[in-house]
Amino acid sequence: MLRQDGRQLVALVCGLVAAALLVSWLGARAAEPTAATVANPLEGRSDVADEGRGLFNQYCSHCHGPNAIQGERPRDLRRLKLRYGSEATKVYQETMSRGRPDKGMPVWKDVLSDDVLWRIFMYLQTVQTEP
Ligand code: HEC
Repeated sequence: MLRQDGRQLVALVCGLVAAALLVSWLGARAAEPTAATVANPLEGRSDVADEGRGLFNQYCSHCHGPNAIQGERPRDLRRLKLRYGSEATKVYQETMSRGRPDKGMPVWKDVLSDDVLWRIFMYLQTVQTEP
Protein backbone atom coordinates (compact mmCIF):
# COMPACT_ATOMS: atom_id res chain seq x y z
CA MET A 1 0.00 0.00 0.00
CA LEU A 2 2.80 2.31 0.94
CA ARG A 3 4.67 1.45 -2.29
CA GLN A 4 1.52 2.12 -4.27
CA ASP A 5 1.20 5.60 -2.67
CA GLY A 6 4.86 6.25 -3.43
CA ARG A 7 4.36 5.45 -7.09
CA GLN A 8 1.32 7.63 -7.30
CA LEU A 9 3.26 10.46 -5.71
CA VAL A 10 6.09 10.05 -8.24
CA ALA A 11 3.56 10.05 -11.09
CA LEU A 12 1.92 13.16 -9.68
CA VAL A 13 5.24 15.01 -9.34
CA CYS A 14 6.25 14.01 -12.87
CA GLY A 15 2.91 15.26 -14.17
CA LEU A 16 3.35 18.58 -12.40
CA VAL A 17 6.88 19.03 -13.72
CA ALA A 18 5.72 18.24 -17.26
CA ALA A 19 2.86 20.72 -16.93
CA ALA A 20 5.21 23.41 -15.61
CA LEU A 21 7.62 22.82 -18.50
CA LEU A 22 4.79 23.00 -21.00
CA VAL A 23 3.51 26.27 -19.52
CA SER A 24 6.96 27.86 -19.56
CA TRP A 25 7.57 26.67 -23.13
CA LEU A 26 4.26 28.12 -24.27
CA GLY A 27 5.08 31.36 -22.44
CA ALA A 28 8.47 31.61 -24.14
CA ARG A 29 6.88 30.98 -27.51
CA ALA A 30 4.28 33.67 -26.90
CA ALA A 31 7.04 36.16 -26.07
CA GLU A 32 8.91 35.51 -29.33
CA PRO A 33 8.17 38.04 -32.02
CA THR A 34 5.89 36.51 -34.60
CA ALA A 35 5.22 37.63 -38.14
CA ALA A 36 2.29 39.60 -36.72
CA THR A 37 4.52 42.05 -34.87
CA VAL A 38 6.98 44.13 -36.81
CA ALA A 39 9.42 46.22 -34.84
CA ASN A 40 10.57 49.56 -36.14
CA PRO A 41 14.25 49.64 -35.12
CA LEU A 42 14.18 53.46 -35.10
CA GLU A 43 11.09 53.73 -32.87
CA GLY A 44 11.31 56.90 -30.77
CA ARG A 45 14.15 58.41 -32.86
CA SER A 46 12.33 61.59 -33.86
CA ASP A 47 15.76 63.07 -34.68
CA VAL A 48 15.90 61.04 -37.92
CA ALA A 49 12.56 62.34 -39.25
CA ASP A 50 14.15 65.35 -40.94
CA GLU A 51 16.55 63.19 -42.86
CA GLY A 52 13.63 60.84 -43.60
CA ARG A 53 11.78 63.73 -45.23
CA GLY A 54 14.72 64.37 -47.56
CA LEU A 55 14.86 60.67 -48.46
CA PHE A 56 11.11 60.56 -48.97
CA ASN A 57 11.23 63.54 -51.31
CA GLN A 58 14.08 61.94 -53.20
CA TYR A 59 12.60 58.46 -53.67
CA CYS A 60 8.86 58.53 -53.08
CA SER A 61 7.50 62.00 -53.78
CA HIS A 62 7.02 61.63 -57.53
CA CYS A 63 4.22 59.19 -56.77
CA HIS A 64 3.29 60.10 -53.19
CA GLY A 65 3.59 63.90 -53.44
CA PRO A 66 6.20 66.30 -52.09
CA ASN A 67 6.20 66.06 -48.28
CA ALA A 68 3.60 63.29 -48.69
CA ILE A 69 0.90 65.71 -49.78
CA GLN A 70 -1.09 63.65 -52.23
CA GLY A 71 -4.83 63.83 -52.69
CA GLU A 72 -5.34 60.40 -54.21
CA ARG A 73 -6.36 58.20 -51.29
CA PRO A 74 -4.55 54.92 -51.89
CA ARG A 75 -1.34 56.89 -52.33
CA ASP A 76 -1.90 59.36 -49.50
CA LEU A 77 0.66 58.20 -46.96
CA ARG A 78 -0.63 60.68 -44.38
CA ARG A 79 -3.52 58.27 -43.91
CA LEU A 80 -1.53 55.18 -42.89
CA LYS A 81 -2.49 55.56 -39.23
CA LEU A 82 -6.12 56.32 -40.07
CA ARG A 83 -6.33 53.35 -42.39
CA TYR A 84 -4.36 50.78 -40.44
CA GLY A 85 -4.08 52.00 -36.83
CA SER A 86 -1.67 49.86 -34.86
CA GLU A 87 -1.07 47.68 -37.94
CA ALA A 88 0.49 50.62 -39.81
CA THR A 89 4.08 49.54 -39.10
CA LYS A 90 3.35 46.04 -40.34
CA VAL A 91 1.58 47.28 -43.48
CA TYR A 92 4.48 49.62 -44.19
CA GLN A 93 7.04 46.87 -43.79
CA GLU A 94 5.04 44.45 -45.94
CA THR A 95 4.45 47.04 -48.65
CA MET A 96 8.17 47.83 -48.73
CA SER A 97 9.09 44.13 -49.02
CA ARG A 98 6.47 43.01 -51.50
CA GLY A 99 5.37 46.20 -53.21
CA ARG A 100 1.97 46.15 -54.87
CA PRO A 101 3.00 45.24 -58.39
CA ASP A 102 -0.57 45.16 -59.67
CA LYS A 103 -1.15 48.73 -58.42
CA GLY A 104 2.10 50.34 -59.50
CA MET A 105 3.85 50.39 -56.13
CA PRO A 106 7.44 49.13 -56.57
CA VAL A 107 9.32 46.78 -54.24
CA TRP A 108 11.79 48.86 -52.23
CA LYS A 109 13.49 46.21 -50.16
CA ASP A 110 16.90 45.50 -51.75
CA VAL A 111 16.72 48.85 -53.59
CA LEU A 112 17.01 50.98 -50.45
CA SER A 113 18.48 49.77 -47.16
CA ASP A 114 16.21 48.93 -44.23
CA ASP A 115 17.74 51.87 -42.40
CA VAL A 116 16.70 54.31 -45.15
CA LEU A 117 13.21 52.80 -45.30
CA TRP A 118 12.72 53.15 -41.53
CA ARG A 119 13.99 56.74 -41.65
CA ILE A 120 11.33 57.46 -44.24
CA PHE A 121 8.78 55.79 -41.98
CA MET A 122 9.87 57.99 -39.07
CA TYR A 123 9.21 61.02 -41.28
CA LEU A 124 5.81 59.70 -42.35
CA GLN A 125 4.84 59.36 -38.70
CA THR A 126 5.23 63.13 -38.30
CA VAL A 127 2.68 63.87 -41.05
CA GLN A 128 -0.14 61.47 -40.10
CA THR A 129 -3.67 62.85 -40.30
CA GLU A 130 -5.31 62.64 -36.90
CA PRO A 131 -8.77 61.01 -36.76
C1 HEC B 1 6.15 54.60 -59.12
C2 HEC B 1 5.27 55.20 -58.17
C3 HEC B 1 5.58 54.96 -56.70
C4 HEC B 1 6.74 55.23 -56.02
C5 HEC B 1 8.04 55.80 -56.55
C6 HEC B 1 6.48 54.89 -54.63
N1 HEC B 1 5.20 54.42 -54.48
FE1 HEC B 1 4.32 53.82 -52.77
N2 HEC B 1 2.60 53.43 -53.76
C7 HEC B 1 2.38 53.67 -55.10
C8 HEC B 1 1.00 53.39 -55.42
C9 HEC B 1 0.34 53.55 -56.78
C10 HEC B 1 0.39 52.96 -54.21
C11 HEC B 1 -1.07 52.57 -53.99
C12 HEC B 1 -1.23 51.10 -54.11
C13 HEC B 1 -2.66 50.71 -53.86
O1 HEC B 1 -3.54 51.22 -54.55
O2 HEC B 1 -2.87 49.86 -52.98
C14 HEC B 1 1.44 52.98 -53.20
C15 HEC B 1 1.25 52.59 -51.89
C16 HEC B 1 2.17 52.73 -50.90
C17 HEC B 1 1.96 52.34 -49.52
C18 HEC B 1 0.70 51.72 -48.95
C19 HEC B 1 -0.31 52.82 -48.71
C20 HEC B 1 -1.62 52.35 -48.12
O3 HEC B 1 -2.35 53.21 -47.62
O4 HEC B 1 -1.92 51.16 -48.16
C21 HEC B 1 3.10 52.66 -48.84
C22 HEC B 1 3.35 52.47 -47.37
C23 HEC B 1 4.02 53.23 -49.80
N3 HEC B 1 3.43 53.24 -51.05
C24 HEC B 1 5.27 53.70 -49.47
C25 HEC B 1 6.18 54.19 -50.40
C26 HEC B 1 7.49 54.68 -50.05
C27 HEC B 1 8.03 54.76 -48.64
C28 HEC B 1 8.10 55.04 -51.21
C29 HEC B 1 9.51 55.56 -51.40
C30 HEC B 1 10.58 54.73 -50.89
C31 HEC B 1 7.14 54.78 -52.28
N4 HEC B 1 5.99 54.28 -51.76
C32 HEC B 1 7.39 55.04 -53.61
C33 HEC B 1 3.33 54.12 -56.01
C34 HEC B 1 4.61 54.46 -55.73
